[in-house]
Amino acid sequence: MKRKKIIIDTDPGQDDAVAILLALASEELQVLGITCVAGNVPLRLTAENARKVLELTKYTNVPVFAGAEHPISRKLVTAEHVHGKTGLDGPILDPPKIRLQEIGAVEFIINTVFSHSKEKVTICTLGPLTNIALAFRKEPRIKKLIEQVVMMGGGFFEGGNITPAAEFNIYVDPEAAAEVLGSGIPVVMLPLDVTHKALTSRRRIEAFRDIGNKAGTAIAEMLDFFERFDVEKYGSEGGPLHDPNVIAYLLRPDFYGGRKVNVEVEINSDLTRGMTVVDWWNVTKKKKNVYYVNSIDDDEFFKFLTDRIGLL
Ligand code: RIB
Ligand code: CA
Repeated sequence: MKRKKIIIDTDPGQDDAVAILLALASEELQVLGITCVAGNVPLRLTAENARKVLELTKYTNVPVFAGAEHPISRKLVTAEHVHGKTGLDGPILDPPKIRLQEIGAVEFIINTVFSHSKEKVTICTLGPLTNIALAFRKEPRIKKLIEQVVMMGGGFFEGGNITPAAEFNIYVDPEAAAEVLGSGIPVVMLPLDVTHKALTSRRRIEAFRDIGNKAGTAIAEMLDFFERFDVEKYGSEGGPLHDPNVIAYLLRPDFYGGRKVNVEVEINSDLTRGMTVVDWWNVTKKKKNVYYVNSIDDDEFFKFLTDRIGLL
């Protein structure tokens, strides 16, 4: 089988962790590397957490790279209130034995895109888009050599989660997001409008615990912690499982529905900083730069996710 080559850019984060584990469990994908960015928690912790997640599996040979410690031109905003002070609260995981790679995330992204220019790389982003935008600034030629960017971020009908207008990944680095959406590269966006329809539940979390392997147990412990914030905030039965939708979309796009539309990012206003303005009715007739996903078969998604984690 021809494996799709991907780079995962991430700020783990419990939901990032589940996304990484799904990718590692899926033989349709080849994870060329994991690049870490400051987001949910500072870079030191996201880079540590990514390695902790790998050590829940046999895939400890996947290289991990440290990227940006802060957004391109903003002060870093983190989300310990959601993810806990380690960013991966829930399970007790040992400090990682795997070491970070010597080169940085931006250099790895540039080198890897160039060395895979025939069979193009897909970039899966699970956090703020700082590393990707910095790579485009440093080496603009790579934009034409990337298959697509599949990203968790944004929201429109659902509003925001870090402000009334903005979703966290876009809010943290709106300039980076604007540069990626304006890059001309095909973008698939998995926004809050779809991730808020992928809610955990007691039954869904227990299904992970019942797998009985290290990854399944750790995921159950992560989600037990992670869902509490959203349950309190939204009064829902469970919390939205955001990032695994990026990987699940690559593997089973049939679970999802959406529309090609124009999406732009607000970078000038304080009130609506990081808002993704989605031209759902094509009012502006601007370039339709994003496939915007807004529906999911959530039962199928969770069943598929649990089955795949059982393969680790
Ligand atoms: O808004 C949700 C997104 O922000 C997810 O990627 C979560 O991990 C945080 O990075
Ligand atoms: Ca994330």
